Formats: sequence, C-alpha cells, structure tokens
Amino acid sequence: MDPYRIREDFPILKRKINGNPLIYFDNAATTQKPRQVIEAIRDFYENHNGNVHRAVHTLSLEATELYEKTRENIARFINAKNSAEIIFVRGTTEAINLVAYSWGMSNLEKGDEVLVSLMEHHSNIVPWDIVSKIKGFTVKYAKVHDDGTLDYADFESKFTSKTKIACLSHVSNVSGVVNDIKRIAKVAHEHGALMLVDGAQSVPHMKVDVREADIDFLAFSGHKMLGPTGIGVLYGKKDLLEKMNPFQGGGEMIKEVAFSQDKERCYISWNDPPWKFEAGTPNICGGIALNEAVKYLEQIGMDEVLKHERMLTEYAVEKMQTCCNKVAVYGPSELTSKCGIIPFTVDGLSSHDVALFCDNYGIMIRSGFHCAQPLHQVFKLQSSARASFYIYNTREEVDRFIEVLKEIEQL
Ligand SMILES: Cc1ncc(COP(=O)(O)O)c(C=O)c1O
Repeated sequence: MDPYRIREDFPILKRKINGNPLIYFDNAATTQKPRQVIEAIRDFYENHNGNVHRAVHTLSLEATELYEKTRENIARFINAKNSAEIIFVRGTTEAINLVAYSWGMSNLEKGDEVLVSLMEHHSNIVPWDIVSKIKGFTVKYAKVHDDGTLDYADFESKFTSKTKIACLSHVSNVSGVVNDIKRIAKVAHEHGALMLVDGAQSVPHMKVDVREADIDFLAFSGHKMLGPTGIGVLYGKKDLLEKMNPFQGGGEMIKEVAFSQDKERCYISWNDPPWKFEAGTPNICGGIALNEAVKYLEQIGMDEVLKHERMLTEYAVEKMQTCCNKVAVYGPSELTSKCGIIPFTVDGLSSHDVALFCDNYGIMIRSGFHCAQPLHQVFKLQSSARASFYIYNTREEVDRFIEVLKEIEQL
C-alpha cells in the first residue's frame, strides 16, 4: 500500500490551511473523499438521476440498478449471506436507533435487560436509555479497565437469563481499542440474547465478517469510510429482520395499503426486508457513491489498511512518549490490539487549546469528549485531544505533528 500514490486521489489534501499543507488527523470523525467517490456523485446527477423502485422509465431503472448493486457489494464486503440483510440508513446513529425502536419496542419488556459497555459512543447508549424509559426494561453497563480495554469478566458476568441483547462497539472511537466481538457474541447466544455491534470505527479500517463473528446486527457509517455523509448501513440477520416491525412508515416500505369497502378501515401489509425499513426516498446518490468507496477500499485490501494505520499509530505513540515531556497518551500500552486512534492530553492545556494550536499549523485533530463521556470518566478526564489516521496519512505528517506538539509544550 502506497499512501503517497493514494494521496493523489484526494483533491482536498492539496489544500493549505493557515499557510500550511493540510494534515488531516480527524479521520475517526469523518474521512476525506477520493476523486472516484466525488466523480460518482457528479456522474449520478449528470447522467442517471431518477427515483428508485418506482417508475418504469430508463432513468429510474438505471438509478435502481446502481443503488441495488451497492447493496449487493456491501453484503459481500461484510460477508452477509443475503443482500436483503443490508438496510440503508443515514449512519450508525440511525442504524442503532432503528434496532432500539423497531426490535426493542416489540421485544423488550419490564424485567428484561440490555447490556451495554462503558466505552460506547453516546449513539449506543442514548437510544437504549430512551426506549428503556418507554418499555421499562433495565440497561446494564459493563466496565472498562483504566487503560480503556474492555473488562471481559465483568461484561460476561453481567449476562443473565433476562438479558435480551448485548450492544458493543467493535472499536472504541476514543481509544482505538479493538473488542473481541466474536467472544461476546458467543456468550450472548449462550444466554439466548442477541448481539449488536457498533462498527462505525471498525468497518472502515479492518475486515469485518458478520458470519464469522456470528453477530445479529452491525451498524456503520459511509462517511467514515471514504463515502459521503447521510448514508450508512444496518446489517441484520434475515430471520430477525423478517420478524421486526418497520421503523418508519411511508412510501416504499409497504406492499399494500387498501381501504375497506366502507372506507372505515385501512389494511396495510409491509414490504419485505430490506425495503420494509427504508420508508420514503432514500439517499440514492449517497448509496451509489458509497459503492465507489467500498471498491476503493477493497482494491487496497482491508488488511493493508489496518497494517498501515497500526504502523502509523506505533510510530506516533513512540514519538509522543519519547520526544514530548508534557504529553500523556491514553489507552492500552499493547498497541497490537488498537486501531489508528490516539487520545492524548498536554499538561496545563485544554484539549480545545491543543486542537486550535494544531489548526494554526494546518493539522486537524479532534478535541472534547468525542461523544463518549463515560469513557472519559474512566480515564478521569474532562476531555482529550485525539489524532486518528487513515490510508492517506504518512510518517512525515506524524513527524510534523510531533514538531508542533513540542512547540505547544513551550506555551
Ligand atoms: C463508535 C461510533 N459509534 C457511532 C458513531 C456515530 O456515527 P454517525 O454520527 O455517523 O451516526 C460514531 C461517530 O463518531 C462512532 O465513532
């Protein structure tokens, strides 16, 4: 994998920010887009724009074919058995809300338990909390060790006969820690519970195989894997999706809406999955562009993507620890269990100060609590700065980042 060649495909990387070459280290928030994805968006609107699944005219048929092709390719990408198991949503947040409402509202009752970890992004905590207030079930939180790794013993001990679903991120968006989802899925199934995986930070960075891990639901976002915003995926096992009620009502998600003779009653039957969960006109162009993003990543190879990110992480963490005096890096010391995400603080400065200072030098990093406040409580931090890498980042960029960190330390 050649990041210097890859950079040529990303027009934005030619930009200067505050007179400095752009160094984009906020990839966990969203990634930049290659020419191929930008071109797919332009090509769709210039040549194929029509609504999907509706009309018999050429443009509608072309749009439908392109859109449904994406579904097939994404099914292959995550090794789903059937493209009907791929539901298009806005992103990870909507995917988890879909499960919490659609599955949770009809399968969870008072006395039931939902198991979530303390390292989750808020989008894997808040929907369960909201629905628990409606249905009266309990949400239990599994502990995380001080270094940000999952406390497997605590997680596994919290399963009971009342546990109906376990919800866990595959990779933490704060620490980059990779969780053993296959192990937790096995324990969940032994207890008769389902397993939902938040793949927002894993699907873009490593091979994720839903059948090998035997997970029931997987949520991820297109914009974190070179695709546009507003398109994401919920994978669900077909037999589960078939039994679930729709999330939203409207066009496309029904088979039939018919009134009785006296017009007093309306009879509605649902469409089959995945369309049952895709009410209204979807983000057609977003889906088609996501297909290009997936093809781009497949061409590189997901193992190569992960290898590159791990190399940069090891390089950066080593330099941050040896060249800087006031920088503290959080997360496990064992870097082989991590993805390319580095949370850190600079003694005496707020994370926003650090990020603003970096911005002066054209370096984009994240600051705050990254929608994961509970994990910051574990780290005993108000907030942290976060550098996160992707396929187009280089060791030279890390070197420049370290130089800037050393300047920050002089403040
Ligand atoms: C682990 C994790 N889960 C969920 C989300 C939410 O993703 P989105 O905002 O694309 O819905 C994010 C976004 O940062 C994330 O990192």
